[in-house]
Amino acid sequence: MKSIVTGGAGFIGSHLVDRLIASGDDVLVIDDLSSGKPANLPQDVKLEEADIGDDRIANIVSAFQPERVFHAAAQISVSLSAREPMTDARTNVLGTLNVLDAIRNALGEPAKFIFVSTGGAMYGEPEDLPAQESLPANPGSPYGASKRTIEVYLPVYERLFGVQHTTLRLANVYGPRQDPHGEAGVVAIFSRAMLADREVKIFGDGNDERDYVFVGDVVDALLAGAAGEKTGPYNVGTGTGTNVNQLFNILAELSGYGRAANYEPPRAGDIGKISLDSSRLSRDTGWNPATSLADGLSTTVKWFRENPA
Ligand SMILES: NC(=O)c1ccc[n+]([C@@H]2O[C@H](COP(=O)([O-])OP(=O)(O)OC[C@H]3O[C@@H](n4cnc5c(N)ncnc54)[C@H](O)[C@@H]3O)[C@@H](O)[C@H]2O)c1
Repeated sequence: MKSIVTGGAGFIGSHLVDRLIASGDDVLVIDDLSSGKPANLPQDVKLEEADIGDDRIANIVSAFQPERVFHAAAQISVSLSAREPMTDARTNVLGTLNVLDAIRNALGEPAKFIFVSTGGAMYGEPEDLPAQESLPANPGSPYGASKRTIEVYLPVYERLFGVQHTTLRLANVYGPRQDPHGEAGVVAIFSRAMLADREVKIFGDGNDERDYVFVGDVVDALLAGAAGEKTGPYNVGTGTGTNVNQLFNILAELSGYGRAANYEPPRAGDIGKISLDSSRLSRDTGWNPATSLADGLSTTVKWFRENPA
């Protein structure tokens, strides 16, 4: 198939590109390389270096005539979104609408739009965990609000303009190539620091829980979501929460780190506990997370060891 991957030079996008190329897809990556790297991509993949909000996107999409567009490009920092909601919305709302408009205005049958949304920042702090999609959206940050905003637009674009979609709400994704310079990738941050024998900071008491899902399983979920007729939204997680202290201990063991963590005051806006129930995706597509936390973390630490910064 002909597939566009926006944000394809980034962490999740580049793993998706690898898989699409391996299965014989004709792939075009659109990425402004603000955090993504060409080195994440297979050598001969087509790359358009462009901001998703740029006027050129219409021509790029029209010239390529994709059958599907995986939309992973985003401003991904929750705390930046709180400091600069307009910056977040410019990319995550207006940039995304620019891509959707390019799809609806391209010649021929509009491509299917596979939206990479968030589960971790969508539900607030529900009492009943793991969270199901039937819970009301209750984003605690402009980042979560901008992702939710696009989810509201998608059925409208489908009804009015025939742009089909699927929404995948991802939990905390980890794996090789994650950028440790960002703030979202606690596994990447801890792994790099531990392998370099540097200080590791834990904000709060370390009892915050997240649902860590391996990037290879996330790629499976994106492809499963793309293949069906269903629109979602679909949670993509393991259903199990792991707290920061547990994560610290597993990674310390894998990387041979002998120091204790440094505990710092909690950061404003960090939520306490979240995990996602993915049984809807499992029921509709047969997807299940195949990688245990132990195996996924072991693969990840090995990759960071072999690819020092
Ligand atoms: N990593 C996670 O735990 C997680 C969880 C939930 C959702 N997501 C979503 O998954 C997607 C991919 O995130 P990631 O973790 O791989 O982060 P990432 O930063 O590695 O990937 C984002 C990519 O988008 C590109 N990009 C950013 N702004 C752009 C713009 N204006 N125009 C064109 N390209 C732009 C970046 O250069 C980068 O390559 C994002 O939509 C993110 O919101 C990630």
